[in-house]
Formats: sequence, C-alpha cells, structure tokens
Amino acid sequence: MDIEPRYLHDWSGTEYGVPAALARPASVDELSAWLAGHHATATPIAVQGGRTGVSGGAAPADGEHILSMENLNQVVSFDRKAGVIVVEAGMVLQPLQELVEAEGWSFPLDLGSRGSCQIGGNAATNAGGSRVIKYGNTRNMVLGLEAVLADGSIIGLPNQLVKNNAGYSLAQLLVGSEGTLGVMTKLALRLVPRPAARLCALLAMPHGVPLDSLLHRCRQELGGALSAFEVMWPEYVQAAQAACGEGRALPDGFQGRRAVLAEVEGDCEASLAGRLEQVLARACEDGLVHDVVLSASGKDARQLWQIRESVGEIQAGIRPYAGFDLGMPARDYDRYVQQARDRLAATGLPVQAYFFGHAGDGNLHAVIGPCHTSQARQQVEAALYDLLPRYTTTVTAEHGVGRKKKAMLARARTGADIAAMAAIKRALDPANILNRGRIFDV
Ligand code: LAC
Ligand code: ZN
Repeated sequence: MDIEPRYLHDWSGTEYGVPAALARPASVDELSAWLAGHHATATPIAVQGGRTGVSGGAAPADGEHILSMENLNQVVSFDRKAGVIVVEAGMVLQPLQELVEAEGWSFPLDLGSRGSCQIGGNAATNAGGSRVIKYGNTRNMVLGLEAVLADGSIIGLPNQLVKNNAGYSLAQLLVGSEGTLGVMTKLALRLVPRPAARLCALLAMPHGVPLDSLLHRCRQELGGALSAFEVMWPEYVQAAQAACGEGRALPDGFQGRRAVLAEVEGDCEASLAGRLEQVLARACEDGLVHDVVLSASGKDARQLWQIRESVGEIQAGIRPYAGFDLGMPARDYDRYVQQARDRLAATGLPVQAYFFGHAGDGNLHAVIGPCHTSQARQQVEAALYDLLPRYTTTVTAEHGVGRKKKAMLARARTGADIAAMAAIKRALDPANILNRGRIFDV
C-alpha cells in the first residue's frame, strides 16, 4: 500500500519505519470494528491527529497500521448558553477557536500549530501552549470524552457536567496518555466568555534581574488579567527577527537582553491598556524592565507573537537539532540557562543554542544544533539533562514522552510511578496495540 509521506512522521520529521496500512474511519462504529479486529490479531496501531507533535508519538513504526482521525472532524453539539461544545476528535484547533469566538465564547487553548493540530491530539498529549498561566493545560478544558478502547468497546457519552464524581474520571485518565490507553472520538469542552480586549507588550529585561522577579510583579499587579508570560533569550529574539523578515523592528534596548512577551486580557480595552501601562511604568522605575514595546493594534500584537512563534524557522536553520521541553520553577531559569551554556561550551561542539519558553508555567524550551552525529546529540542532551534534579523537575512539560523522551522518563518519574502506569496500560490494552512503545515499554 502506498502511503503518502506526510503520514510517516510528526513535525520533528523523524521517521521510525514503514507502516503497513492507513485507515481513516468516518464513524465511531467503523473505528470500533476496526480496533476490535486489530485487538484480535494483536496488530499494532499508530494513532494520528494533526501530526504536529515533536516527540515521535504519532510516527508509525515498521508494520504498524496508521489510524488517522482526520475524517472525524465535525461539531456534535454546541450549548451556546452553557458554553459547552462537543466536537469530534479530528477537528482542527483553529476552526474550533473561530467558531466559538463568533458566538461570544473562547476556547483558550492556543499554540503555534493551531492551524493543523487536532483537538484529539491536544487532549491526548494534554497540550499546554501559551496561555497555561491563566487557563491551565488542555486537561482543564475537557469535561468529558467518548473514546474507543483497544478491544473496540466505546466509553463515555461524553460527560458535560462541570461536577460529576460518579466514579473514576476515565476522561482525565485518557487525557495525556498519548494514545496508549484508548482513541478519543468526541470531546466535551468547557468554554470561557470571550475576552473583549487582549493586549500584549514585549519587555526587555535588564541584565542581572531575575526573571521570576518580573513574573512575580506581573502576577501580583495584573492578577487574573495576565494571560501569557513568555520568555526568549537574546539569541532567540535575534534569530526570530531575522526569520520574520518584515516583522517589527525592536528598539536598541532589546539588543543582547532577555525579552518577555506579556499578554493581558480584560473587558475594556481602554482600562486594560491604562492598567498595563501603569504596571509597566512602575516596573521600569523599579529596574525590573529596561525597555517596552506595547502592541498598539491587533496587527502589532500578531507581529510580537510572531517573534515568539518563529521556532519552526529557527529550528530549520540548525537541523538536525536536539529539542528540549523542560519543566522547572521559573526562579531556576536564569541559573539553569547559564549553567547549560557553560556545559555546552565545554563540549567544544559548534552548536547554536536557543532558549525560550513559557515562563509563566515553568516550561523552558531549548533547541540546540546542528547535532550531526549521535555522539554530538548525546553530549548536548547530557549537558542539559544531567543538570536537572530528579523528580522535582520534568523532562517534558508539554510535548509528551512519545519515543524521544522515553529514555529520560525515569529522571522525572519514580519506579513505582512507572509500574503503576504500566499496570493501567496492560489492563486497558492487553494486546499492546495502541501506540506500542510510546512513553514506556510494557
Ligand atoms: C513552543 C513549542 C516548541 O513553545 O512548544 O514554541
Ligand atoms: Zn512550548
């Protein structure tokens, strides 16, 4: 069977083998029968949403049968009064966002791959993105779901109640399970009222001022209005500006300094702007901020976000690169980045290192490359991972384990944790057909 190349890898581009088949079911019953057949013959399956992940979870291995959810992409119901929408798992995030926004609601999950990622994949990986500081991860937005288990049985109606303690939450068990426990088919999502105003500011941070001092100030003074707090080290800003081409030029004060993209949401644009300006003026007076660019329009805001969302272009310039999705308290960011840079320099490898991330929720990314040999990659990975304290930090804050972070899992989770996860996997998928070999081996 000839399978189009796009089904062979995720956004990282890594391929793991030659799949044997591709199925794109158009109904839950069709999917259920298909899975039951694979369960009976213990045929392994690679579950795919929009393939925008970077951990290798969706990429098929040799002989696997690909299950693409792209044809299950309809809105099932939309309770416009309650702010609950039920959609099929293959619906793409951006049309979902736009659809609810037209009705005065917001689905606040947002990430750079919004135009291709599917809501089922977002939930399967418990996607984070840029507004976690205000709205939490995808988990917080999922009220319930319908899923097909490995043997073809269908669970969930799905739940649409905000409070429902009738037994285990199977929905929350499946959220973040990376397609290893069941295939989500419908999701009931909790919406929030669409904010009337959204503004952002790019801040240059003075040398030597800890990142968490500014984060603390913004949290205290902007409260619930603060909807994003993203950080980029100077090399990232410079490379992103080069990649953006016509993107907005930044004042000299941004040269060589860490930049923070702060976003606020509120009911009234004028009062929100006034409050943001006041808070930033005080932060400047107190030496927490060196320079400021405020978004004066929606177009301006998009250009500022474009700087942060240029990661694809930056990665393209350093392929093959090693990508990191670390989690640690924001107070440790500055020291960690400095130590990581020192360790990278000590390897003598001619690599570029770009650090950035979602500082508001302690998620620090790095892309480092080119790593032309596996030895170079190992050296780069050791430089960063060996610096992380075990169990109190994480090797993947939002991208998931997939295949790429499997060897690192035991740094973040104890042996007892992994044994409990494996027991759940064996109970729900005894023939080990769903995303076999992702997260851990059972
Ligand atoms: C980002 C991706 C790498 O935050 O998670 O841009
Ligand atoms: Zn991220």
